[in-house]
Amino acid sequence: MIAPSILAADFARLAEEAQAVRGADWLHVDVMDGHFVPNLTIGLPVVQALLRSTDIPVDCHLMIEDPDRWAVDYAEAGAHNVTVHAEAVGDPVKVAKNIRAAGARAGLSVRPGTPLEPWTELLIHYDTLLVMSVEPGFGGQEFMPEVLDKVRAVRRLVDRGELQVLIEIDGGINADTIAEAAAAGVDCFVAGSAVYGADDPAEAVGRLRTMAEGS
Ligand code: DX5
Ligand code: ZN
Repeated sequence: MIAPSILAADFARLAEEAQAVRGADWLHVDVMDGHFVPNLTIGLPVVQALLRSTDIPVDCHLMIEDPDRWAVDYAEAGAHNVTVHAEAVGDPVKVAKNIRAAGARAGLSVRPGTPLEPWTELLIHYDTLLVMSVEPGFGGQEFMPEVLDKVRAVRRLVDRGELQVLIEIDGGINADTIAEAAAAGVDCFVAGSAVYGADDPAEAVGRLRTMAEGS
């Protein structure tokens, strides 16, 4: 699966930018609050407007403090997947239950430096694990291959039938890095600059998918 990140799109033309990646599996939306991460992007009203203007399932990546307070609003607005950060969440089981009760899939994300072990047991409550392959906050950063150890560890659990979670990766995914991530066992690839920086974003999505499938 390929999930273009609208962080690299033109925020003044979000509906058209969603249209420009038709064929994408998910549309990845980075919600940043200027506290959990140093950058500030968009919040609920803009996400609600975007949801009204695209049929692509929307994947909300909440890089915010107190996601326990906000996550369910994004689910109720109609997001397909709502991901909270392990480093920010207060009650991870309750948040996941609330997101699912509101009709969305629940995702848990870990920063590059956050170890997975303390969170592995909790993953039975989640549908998605989002492994950050850059420090969250900005697009266009360099891929950190060392996070693929976390991907491999979770892939093993999924393949052994001990977990049912979709493995998503976010940060620095492009033509040079996607094959390595795919080989480690990633199911869903977020790509911002590699998609919206291309002349034809829809074609870039197709090309990335082919590269992931071929490895
Ligand atoms: C970074 C965001 C990413 C970002 C990825 O904090 O979570 O989703 O858009 O951008 P690229 O693909 O350019 O690294
Ligand atoms: Zn993201």
